[in-house]
Amino acid sequence: MSDRFITDTLNQADTEFEVSLRPARFEDYIGQTKVKERLELFVEAAKGRRDVLDHVLLSGPPGLGKTTLAYILASAMGVNIKVTSGPVIDKPGDLAGLLTNMERGDILFIDEIHRMQRAVEEYLYSAMEDFVIDIMIDQGPNARSVRLNLEPFTLIGATTRSGLLTAPLRSRFGLTNRLDYYEAEDLQAIILRSARILNVDITEDGAREIGGRARGTPRIANSLLRWVRDYAQVKTGNRIDPEVADKALSMLDIDADGLDEMDKRMLLTMIEKFSGGPVGIGSLAVSVGEEAGTLEEVYEPYLIQEGYLKRTPQGRVVTERAYRKFGLRPGSEQRDLL
Ligand code: ADE
Repeated sequence: MSDRFITDTLNQADTEFEVSLRPARFEDYIGQTKVKERLELFVEAAKGRRDVLDHVLLSGPPGLGKTTLAYILASAMGVNIKVTSGPVIDKPGDLAGLLTNMERGDILFIDEIHRMQRAVEEYLYSAMEDFVIDIMIDQGPNARSVRLNLEPFTLIGATTRSGLLTAPLRSRFGLTNRLDYYEAEDLQAIILRSARILNVDITEDGAREIGGRARGTPRIANSLLRWVRDYAQVKTGNRIDPEVADKALSMLDIDADGLDEMDKRMLLTMIEKFSGGPVGIGSLAVSVGEEAGTLEEVYEPYLIQEGYLKRTPQGRVVTERAYRKFGLRPGSEQRDLL
């Protein structure tokens, strides 16, 4: 059964929590206004022509709502959606199994599409373009190719690394959208919405405090809300205001700028061990004890966006803002000099 390849990227507890908070319609989706408007128009046009939605690529850092948008698109189009992920489709036959089970207009959502095997990816080209898949059966002298006709479908690809997508794959998407980190006001509104759904007592300022420390990311905002709710329940009689939020988040070592332990470890390691850089991502990964890919996809984008870190052809370098954050003067490695 192809259901074996239907996955989601989160663990069980997170999934339940996230799914309960996930907006199901465009009207409930906060932020990413440009992307939302484009997708709404795209849907309206396809529906107006009674057409199948063209393939959509969504890129951007993790936790910004790529999967959520895929579900919203499916519901707006009134079609089924299958959710899978690039690395779990390990042979062309798996892909064929998924695609032959789809009805006209259905959506196949492939998360982490940049991690799909090249051999599988090549089968996607004809599937996306002509809705056919030529599959090899048997081996040796009996090997032959069989053409399977597919119902027209929509592929929604999601990637944290759009730069890693091959040109032939990228060019087969009708619409490409990049999600950016959310504004603080949007995160505040998302937290207030989630708090309403979860019946959590929170002030507007309390939501702003959590939103400002959520790295521009709704998934993080909702998970911080869950933690602050637990803290408030145990320590302060349930109500969340900025002071309670601050105490709860400080207990997680999330500072006033929203940086966590790994962010700070990266920056301090660069300053103290590599004189501020340039340093290669591999050396940095070994020094801080984390995978290079995780640093690149999860931590770096936010540090770059907030101006703590820069990528140069020679490697990563910290900025003046990073030195100042730790009370250091640029070019010095010792603290408390300012
Ligand atoms: N929950 C997570 N992301 C959201 C968003 N963009 N809008 C509303 N609620 C959300």
